[in-house]
Amino acid sequence: MTRFFTLIPAAGSGSRMDSELPKQYLLLNDNPMIYHSINTLYHNKLITSIFVVLAPDDCNWIKHDWSQFSDKLIVLNCGGTTRAESVLNGLTIAKQRNLVDNNDWILVHDAARPCLTTAQLDGLISELTHDEVGGLLAVPVSDTLKRSNIRNLVMHTEPRENLWQAQTPQMFRYELLFKALQNAGKLHITDDASAIEALGLHPKLILSDAYNFKVTYPKDLALAELIIHQRNNP
Ligand code: C5P
Repeated sequence: MTRFFTLIPAAGSGSRMDSELPKQYLLLNDNPMIYHSINTLYHNKLITSIFVVLAPDDCNWIKHDWSQFSDKLIVLNCGGTTRAESVLNGLTIAKQRNLVDNNDWILVHDAARPCLTTAQLDGLISELTHDEVGGLLAVPVSDTLKRSNIRNLVMHTEPRENLWQAQTPQMFRYELLFKALQNAGKLHITDDASAIEALGLHPKLILSDAYNFKVTYPKDLALAELIIHQRNNP
């Protein structure tokens, strides 16, 4: 039987947010940012468990009440120094505890993408369940792209045909994802699909939209808040 698990790497410090508090804990509509990702993943009936990978010294998680998700939530305090390391550590521990099998699908989702919708999640799973490799949510680039030098002078314009912005969740089978992340080792990858690509494979891009953006800078927080507020008050 095909099983689906999600893994949320949440061990980052969010240095670009200008905040002492790691960004996954910043309040968005009265709940920490990560709550919104967990909430969407939790309500998908196909998803068996949600692994949340925290920094070993995380002291913020326990300040909140997660009991409404307790039948699916598994917290792993094994975050690493990079996102890829946090994901790999989480996968390693989940396997050591016999919680996952090689053939299970793993959906890796950033804690900092609180606006993921149920429809996007359903679409990703239904498009990829029978796929050989797996894939990710993404949006075609719509702006004109400029390549600069270090002084911000335009060197040239990049053609945007066939260029996409990668989002999460990114969905791969356990065995392949684990092997890819181990193999990626010292490569500076910023998503899981890059590790799969480094094996010579071609993840599938599943059309998403700009609402599933990653909260990175302080101004992003207000936008995410607005989107979630409108969704909750149609
Ligand atoms: O910093 P960035 O926005 O790229 O982080 C993407 C996701 O990876 C976030 O959910 C963040 O908490 C997580 N991360 C992690 N371990 C790190 C760095 C980032 O789990 N060392």
